[in-house]
Amino acid sequence: DAELQNKLKKEAARKAASYVKNGMVVGLGSGSTVKMLVDELGRRVKEEDLQFTGVATSIFTAQQAKSLGIKIVDLDMVDSIDLTIDGADQVDSNFNGIKGGGGNLLWEKIVAINSKKIVWVVDKSKVVDTIGAFPLAVDVIPFGSQHVMQNFDKAGYEPVLRLDKEGKPFKTDSNNLIIDLHLHKIEEPTQLADNLIQTVGVVEHGLFLNMVSEVVVGKEGQPEILV
Ligand code: A5P
Repeated sequence: DAELQNKLKKEAARKAASYVKNGMVVGLGSGSTVKMLVDELGRRVKEEDLQFTGVATSIFTAQQAKSLGIKIVDLDMVDSIDLTIDGADQVDSNFNGIKGGGGNLLWEKIVAINSKKIVWVVDKSKVVDTIGAFPLAVDVIPFGSQHVMQNFDKAGYEPVLRLDKEGKPFKTDSNNLIIDLHLHKIEEPTQLADNLIQTVGVVEHGLFLNMVSEVVVGKEGQPEILV
């Protein structure tokens, strides 16, 4: 149930938070699991005098971290990031993953590629044989986006424009739109990633292929570490 899942997520988030050491530059992801991670890091800043510099992957994470006394700087203020901790929507045994459920995949990927090490925190329900059951988010420029939708439709990607709670088109932190692709099973992630990024109007997509070096999986007993 949801309560157990939250407990497992929290334990995994706490484990990942223990990787943050004094003096590090740390990329902070987005989503409900990372929210728990940032809470724990805020606790360590207050209670353990932990000192680190954070780079946030969303406006929400930046605001949450700052409210807890965590120092946040812009990505362009640092040379590189020592460690990024983020969530994911699905991940397979080759560490191919889907992100973007919260719509933050663009900033998340920019932070990821500038990170020396990337750790994902997930609960066990997100570890799958083949990714794709979770809709794949694609970040697109608003101009001409209906034509991108039509291209995706012709390709059989089952595109759906993401809407916000009020039923209006969802806007990302960069004021772009999100098209969710209902692909069911992604057998050739590299080829799909190439196709998507070559589509004019697409800014980024939520396929994060072979980028993480460790996944902390929340499960009964204690979190499992996949490396
Ligand atoms: C945000 O855009 C996503 O990439 C999140 O990292 C992902 O959706 C995981 O979120 P939850 O921790 O809320 O499941």
